[in-house]
Amino acid sequence: MTTVTKNYKYTKTHAPIVEALKKAYDNPTYQFHIPGHTKGNGALPEFKQLIGKKALAVDTTDEFDNLGTLHPATGPIKEAQELAAKAFGAQKTFFLLNGSTAGNLALAMGLTKQGQKIITNRNCHRSVLTGMIISGAEPLWLIPERFEDWGIWGNVNPDRVEELLKTNKDVSMVWITNPTYEGVVSDIKSISAVCKKYNVPLIVDEAHACLWNFNDHLPTSALKLGADAVVHSLHKTGGSMSQSSMLHIAENSILDVDAVEKALKLLHTTSPSLMLLASLDAARANLESPRGRKQLQRAVSNAKYLRREIDKLEHIHQLKPDFGYKTDVTKVFIKADGLSGKRLESILEIDFNIEVESASDAGLLLLSNIGNKRSDIQYLVECLKKIDRTNYSDICYLENKKHMPMLTPVIKMNLREAYYSEKETIPKTEAIGRISAEIIAECPPGIAVLLPGELITESHMPYLTDYEFIEVIK
Ligand SMILES: Cc1ncc(COP(=O)(O)O)c(C=O)c1O
Repeated sequence: MTTVTKNYKYTKTHAPIVEALKKAYDNPTYQFHIPGHTKGNGALPEFKQLIGKKALAVDTTDEFDNLGTLHPATGPIKEAQELAAKAFGAQKTFFLLNGSTAGNLALAMGLTKQGQKIITNRNCHRSVLTGMIISGAEPLWLIPERFEDWGIWGNVNPDRVEELLKTNKDVSMVWITNPTYEGVVSDIKSISAVCKKYNVPLIVDEAHACLWNFNDHLPTSALKLGADAVVHSLHKTGGSMSQSSMLHIAENSILDVDAVEKALKLLHTTSPSLMLLASLDAARANLESPRGRKQLQRAVSNAKYLRREIDKLEHIHQLKPDFGYKTDVTKVFIKADGLSGKRLESILEIDFNIEVESASDAGLLLLSNIGNKRSDIQYLVECLKKIDRTNYSDICYLENKKHMPMLTPVIKMNLREAYYSEKETIPKTEAIGRISAEIIAECPPGIAVLLPGELITESHMPYLTDYEFIEVIK
């Protein structure tokens, strides 16, 4: 660490953007540039009080105060991206604002073209589909096994990837979500071997797995298993601020990295938040540090403890980490006899002040995070014990909706063409037999119930109880 002010507390971790931002904070200038709140002086006092003076004082964008630029990467931003690439085992890392969504859009925009095929799993995130709307590429579906009891998808079968590669021409990439939202892991090594055989790049959407490279009890990152590019939502589980993510290009990647970088530049804001970029830099530095490694080890052992305690309950069950697939132990999916996941979620929220990651008709997802203390988990266990002993009943309106889309889409039209076609909005009940013109995908998990170009059928209806109208092709 070289360029630091006298006040900076030395640690072994080096975080260049954090250090540059600290230096700028310690040496304020007379500011005649954006952002107009000018270090918080022009902000609403209540807001300033809420988020703290310092947060506004360091809220700036690139180019100023020797903080470097994002496109092209220069100065501390360039150095921070290089450090991240090293930490995650990549050839090159791009910091993303607008989440992993930005990375997925750039991959589709930069690497695929109108009419080309993308082999992807049915339960991909909506940003993969949006990428297809941008580029005009079309999906060839991999349909994982469905676990109806738990309302979740299983993993992707490498043989099916091979079948699709064997029988289709003009496949621009294979794009796998790994792990699934609930932590189910696919055999990326075998999928990668198949992709290499057909010389087709493999993209892995590891939005939920940025921690894997930092703990031996977690699965192996696709960056080490032969993928060409990987996205990581650092903000989801890695400790950075909301909306900040990373896109990694693997060593030996066959991708056109220039094309991805150009697409990123077109898609990104031209005023990147230094605070978000610093938070990515900080999250990487933390995960690499002994402190971060301890936090992650604690998250793993907290998850194991939570799982042991759930196993003692009578009416609450967990998806076991070895239920037939490899899983990420920190993602704990549970369900309760006689209660929908949504009802269990509302009990935890209203009666116990607990907020969970997500809930569906079947169950709910709890994350054991690097920031959770053992006492948090102990409180959760106590609450689950109380629920287990109490006669809670379900509520009808929460029961009626299906949440996790598990249909096999019938695609009648290219996504991009459908999105830009003449459309009309009609009552949902009249939409059966028509072609959807929009993506309907509630977040989380952001898996599409309907996508542009898809035939609307009776079986979509249980997923659409919140919708009165649907946009269809005219
Ligand atoms: C599998 C997957 N990919 C990509 C994304 C998009 O990530 P972000 O919210 O960082 O844009 C999500 C978000 O939930 C996701 O679940």
